[in-house]
Amino acid sequence: MRVLGLETSCDETGVAIYDTEQGLVAEALYSQIALHAEYGGVVPELASRDHVRKLLPLIREVLAKANMQGSDLDGVAFTKGPGLAGALMVGACAGRAMAYGWGVPAIGVHHMEGHLLAPMLEADAPAFPFIALLVSGGHTQLVRVDGIGCYTLLGESLDDAAGEAFDKAAKMLELGYPGGPQVAKAAERGRVGHYTFPRPMVNRPGLDFSFSGLKTFTLNTVTASRAAGTYNPQDQADIAAAFQEAVVATLVIKCHRALEQENLKTLVIAGGVSANTVLRARLAEKLAKTGGRVYYPRPEFCTDNGAMIAYAGHCRLAAGQHEGLGVTIRPRWPM
Ligand code: KG4
Ligand code: ZN
Repeated sequence: MRVLGLETSCDETGVAIYDTEQGLVAEALYSQIALHAEYGGVVPELASRDHVRKLLPLIREVLAKANMQGSDLDGVAFTKGPGLAGALMVGACAGRAMAYGWGVPAIGVHHMEGHLLAPMLEADAPAFPFIALLVSGGHTQLVRVDGIGCYTLLGESLDDAAGEAFDKAAKMLELGYPGGPQVAKAAERGRVGHYTFPRPMVNRPGLDFSFSGLKTFTLNTVTASRAAGTYNPQDQADIAAAFQEAVVATLVIKCHRALEQENLKTLVIAGGVSANTVLRARLAEKLAKTGGRVYYPRPEFCTDNGAMIAYAGHCRLAAGQHEGLGVTIRPRWPM
């Protein structure tokens, strides 16, 4: 079965083809980062327009790379939600219409299921059951995964997502957009331990997260440093390092707790923040001590991409699921 996948939920236009036998056949990605950079965040209307502009050329590019035509495909998957309504509509309309034209089924995919299954695209893929830490710009969730579609939410952020906190910390530190990679880069120059930030909610039982307090702590630290006249590039890097340490330590503690609670050894991390190298290293360290193992997608499949949607859609279509003829999106959609 060959499935075309389309991702248009936010600020990346992603297209890919996944084949049951060959795996990932071709993919292409267009990032709108430069478009939104001057506004310091994603502007929904501009995002939709750019998806309209880029989606069809990318589909042509991927078909050409795969040396295929539409008639070679067995299904079309698109991101149905959650995400920006106008942006989702672009992928859903294009995907639904092309599937109709080619006479093949269409399937709307949950964006976070795409992220969650992205490590399956690697040669060394994890086996079910496992715990997944989904950390993106919109979600921070711990999920028990027993198979495709068998997901149990164990805990989630009660306020900001981890990625959102990274983005906001970057704004406070005037590090630019998107914030996660910028904070991570600045933190490399920072002195760990120069500042100590709180580890939110780690002393409370359970698997929920909260990152808004850390945001306020960052703001207060920056404000105090400016008032004292000590704010300079080194101080900025020290604050970035302390912020990153706090987020990473919190995520590591909760992942370990989830594995213990569910009596599992396998952890999967996915979503934009899973590209963070300090997070990856700390999780690997922690799990090595307990005989566990962490799996993650290659860096370019941590953030939004078409490959994860093609793969998740392929799994759903192979299980006999598909959309009706209408175009439906779900901008808010619990997994
Ligand atoms: O999964 P994603 O591309 O989009 C959403 O579905 O939200 O995740 C984007 C988020 C942004 O908040 C970005 O700042 C964060 O992932 N991010 C990172 C890193 N790379 C991306 N956060 C921390 N460290 C990184 N290296
Ligand atoms: Zn995402």
